[in-house]
Amino acid sequence: MKVVTILGARPQFIKTKIISENFIKLGITEVILHTGQHYDYAMSEVFFKDLNLRNPDYNLGINNGCHGAQTGKMLIQIEEILTKENPNLVLVYGDTNSTLAGALSAVKLHIPVAHVEAGLRSFNRYMPEEINRLLTDSISSLLFSPSEISVKNLAAEGIVTGVHNTGDVMYDIVLNTINSVDQSKILSENNLRKKEFILCTIHRAENSDNYKNLSEIVSGICALADKGITIIFPIHPRTKKALDKFELLPKISEKIKIIEPVSYTEMIALQANAKLVITDSGGVQKESYYLGTPCLIPRKQTEWIELVEMGCSHLTDANQEELFNLGWKLYNQQEGNSVNQKNIYGDGLSSNYITKIINEYLNN
Ligand code: UD1
Ligand code: UDP
Repeated sequence: MKVVTILGARPQFIKTKIISENFIKLGITEVILHTGQHYDYAMSEVFFKDLNLRNPDYNLGINNGCHGAQTGKMLIQIEEILTKENPNLVLVYGDTNSTLAGALSAVKLHIPVAHVEAGLRSFNRYMPEEINRLLTDSISSLLFSPSEISVKNLAAEGIVTGVHNTGDVMYDIVLNTINSVDQSKILSENNLRKKEFILCTIHRAENSDNYKNLSEIVSGICALADKGITIIFPIHPRTKKALDKFELLPKISEKIKIIEPVSYTEMIALQANAKLVITDSGGVQKESYYLGTPCLIPRKQTEWIELVEMGCSHLTDANQEELFNLGWKLYNQQEGNSVNQKNIYGDGLSSNYITKIINEYLNN
């Protein structure tokens, strides 16, 4: 039995870790196809090294162009490879252009698609990710949802067959990594003291491509820094380019520790030891919850709405006053957020459930 796994962006390299290991144990041949969407060392190769992932069998090197051009180039090349490899299943993760290109190429060749992180919705169709999710879910045969809400979202669209609530694969990987974070030098290298800093990441198109949103976020976090709070910001290349273009880089660099994107283990170490996380990343919202660190989301909505309802995350929009006021309050709160009281995204064995279901599907 053969599965082609299609990856392209940072969170997908992380999500594949345990599933790929399980395929080996189950005797399933996995061909790894990297579209090349993320290509800097710190956005791609570092994860293969840090997480000890096997090198991809193919790397298409497709990393430029607008959405249509990028997705179209991926479709052309993925179709050729799938025709040659003739797998029994194509596996895709998340909601990127690589996810959609992989799923669409496969379904047109009548190859069944399995989608990990099915059913997430922001209900905001201006987000490129929302379109990728809607389309990928509508053409997948196996849909692995991380939560009850994502199963309900699929049902509301009439998708009920092949849906499995397996929990979140990222929780499995956090549990797998947490014991090694103490060996990370990321805190000492950046003169950070435990629970005495804020960790910030920003990369959503709606924030990085929009001058108003980006400048509001910059003003909000600079105001927190002006109060003497240390803020570390491992910066996505997209955001770095945007800050540069909007001439916001000098303002922020003066006050905030801007560093290159970090490895996964380093990122978990930062999240576990931060007093507060400010992020528009989907993955980081969940990880901060798993690690018991409160989180501010400078967006209007989130796909991980349970965390907001439970009071672990807070939506502030890209609004400097809300970011500052809530950031200041949470930073000065005595206790961190006492989370993990209710496990809403599975039991840490999500990858095992997924590979078991895939194995059964392939052998039926
Ligand atoms: C993509 C996904 C997003 C996901 C994110 C994870 C889409 C539409 N978006 O967003 O859902 O949350 O990955 O990080 O698929 N760049 C570099 N070096 C790199 C990678 C990117 O310089 O290694 C720069 C390039 O200028 C590129 C820009 O970042 O044009 C945006 O990259 P892209 O992959 O299109 O989108 P992300 O913002 O990374
Ligand atoms: N991440 C990382 N280094 C960084 C920033 C993020 O390893 O400098 C990890 C983070 O811990 C999470 C994943 O990348 O596991 C999230 O990716 P990203 O924020 O790019 O995308 P999203 O989850 O929003 O799709």
